[in-house]
Amino acid sequence: MNSDSDLQIAGDILEVPHLLQPPREHPATVAEFAGLAREIAGDRSQWAHLVRYDATTRWYHRLSTGPGYEVWLLSWVPGQGSGLHDHGRSSGVLTVLEGTLTERTERTTRALKPGTQRVFAPGYVHEVVNDALEPAVSLHVYYPGLTEMPMHAQHCEARTEPRPVTA
Ligand SMILES: [Fe+2]
Repeated sequence: MNSDSDLQIAGDILEVPHLLQPPREHPATVAEFAGLAREIAGDRSQWAHLVRYDATTRWYHRLSTGPGYEVWLLSWVPGQGSGLHDHGRSSGVLTVLEGTLTERTERTTRALKPGTQRVFAPGYVHEVVNDALEPAVSLHVYYPGLTEMPMHAQHCEARTEPRPVTA
């Protein structure tokens, strides 16, 4: 508490609704995007019946969209991976729903278990792989929606490919 100030909230703040932030219909901050992903992750009825596995190509499904953002559902059979890529000008939140994914960057390798969230800024370079023996499912929120996913060689020489396969 700031002892130099006499300002205090007296009474019931709910009696002065004009002083409160109106609840937002859509997320707009990193914390709110991460919260949206956690909310979806915690409610299997929103995604479990939609998941498909495709051994020939990585499966992905746009779960929802909002102003300026997109939510994608992805599945990964063992051995499937994204390749090293960035996300153009999109920021993102990756949340593992089922299984274990491995994230590799130039600096480190992480095992991502269910409930793990990775928040990344535009230009973040990583590779996501299912190195496990069981299929995995992940949820990806992109803001703005993903319009390109430039692929990188191992030495990070970027080359742009036309339409992204989300990751
Ligand atoms: Fe990615």
